Amino acid sequence: MSKLTAAVGWIDDRFPLTKVWNEHLAQYYAPRNFNFWYFFGSLALLVLVNQILTGIWLTMNYKPDALQAFASVEYIMRDVKWGWLIRYLHATGASAFFIVVYLHMFRGLIYGSYQKPRELLWIFGMIIYVALMAEAFMGYLLPWGQMSYWGAQVIISLFGAIPVVGESLALWIRGDYVIADATLNRFFAFHVIALPLVLVMLVFVHIVALHKVGSNNPEGIEIKKKKGKNGIPLDGIPFHPYYTVKDIVGVIVFLMLFSVVVFFMPEFGGWFLEPDNFIPANPLKTPEHIVPLWYFTPFYAILRAVPDKFFGVVAMGAAIVVLFLLPWLDRSPVKSIRYKGPVFKAAIAIFVVSFIALGYFGTQPATPTYTMFARIFSVLYFAFFILMPFYSVMDKTKPVPERVPQ
Ligand code: HEM
Repeated sequence: MSKLTAAVGWIDDRFPLTKVWNEHLAQYYAPRNFNFWYFFGSLALLVLVNQILTGIWLTMNYKPDALQAFASVEYIMRDVKWGWLIRYLHATGASAFFIVVYLHMFRGLIYGSYQKPRELLWIFGMIIYVALMAEAFMGYLLPWGQMSYWGAQVIISLFGAIPVVGESLALWIRGDYVIADATLNRFFAFHVIALPLVLVMLVFVHIVALHKVGSNNPEGIEIKKKKGKNGIPLDGIPFHPYYTVKDIVGVIVFLMLFSVVVFFMPEFGGWFLEPDNFIPANPLKTPEHIVPLWYFTPFYAILRAVPDKFFGVVAMGAAIVVLFLLPWLDRSPVKSIRYKGPVFKAAIAIFVVSFIALGYFGTQPATPTYTMFARIFSVLYFAFFILMPFYSVMDKTKPVPERVPQ
């Protein structure tokens, strides 16, 4: 017996190391037909680790103080060794996180991965998404630039639109009458410790839920229904080494693209780091256009599309809540888009166009023409969900084979 085997045996007597390795990797049978869309779960994990590590190192030199925050970020960029790299990895990492998560969610949408028995897996995913939005929003205040300040001002003031309790609630969140040092301090606490802890725990339960029900796949076939004599799904292959190796390919391609952004275009034309945020926060000077970063703009467009502030907030909230309900809105007998009918396919296409269009209009000034378009696309966005219980039943589906086709 080698020393390594002896060491593992020693650990196994005290901790289920080999058991966990086998159950979740070496003898975890995943469908053999994963494609491109299945890279994004592991990439989301990678970006989460990047954000946590670079975040820890940023915190070593950042000052959560309204008088020092902006200068401390400049200090990190110019004087701290490799500080510029750590900051760019973190700031562009936030956008990378949303790109990866949006693609990951889109995969769930096209392959019906939210359908029974994966409803809870989807719900955990949605809670992760909401936590991620809160994490990004609070992180954005920390550099204390103009857009940090005014973006937070606009979003927190939305709570003021809630009848009766609104104003007190907004005051309670800010800890002051305007965004101030108290706000910065609490956002810092949430951004560096509370929400990362919540996110890590949620990702853990997300994966526990995934391993309980098993992965869906591009065919939407439940591989656990067809098992061989040895109890192994006939269309399953061990996650390790097959998918660990496949995921490494995804990681390498991702890191190549991510490096191009980090080293050559970290601001990404103002999409990942806004020009106004290179100006220190000035409570006396409102920027001409207050625009959140790209990953929030679809919802921001829905907010502005509604003339009444309170109902705008309700619509924006509803736009996120409907995503939670997807498992119960889709009543189609098949999961994957490959077997769904033309109506469902068209609905998904319209949804994607609407989401991207809303994202664009959310970045533009609210002129009458842009507002009109934002309204049209908001209606289409909601129609996709509200009409789903009807068109998902009416639509002509194709028969799903019992086994994953060769
Ligand atoms: C930090 C963010 C997230 C991480 C680290 C993460 C991680 C993962 C991983 C590792 C997998 C298995 C590999 C794969 O299927 O790609 C997975 C599957 C899945 N995730 Fe996530 N996830 C995140 C966010 C989300 C969100 C926001 C949603 C949706 C609202 C979601 C929904 C799903 C679903 C439905 C599956 C099963 C897909 C299938 O089997 O076809 N996840 N996730």
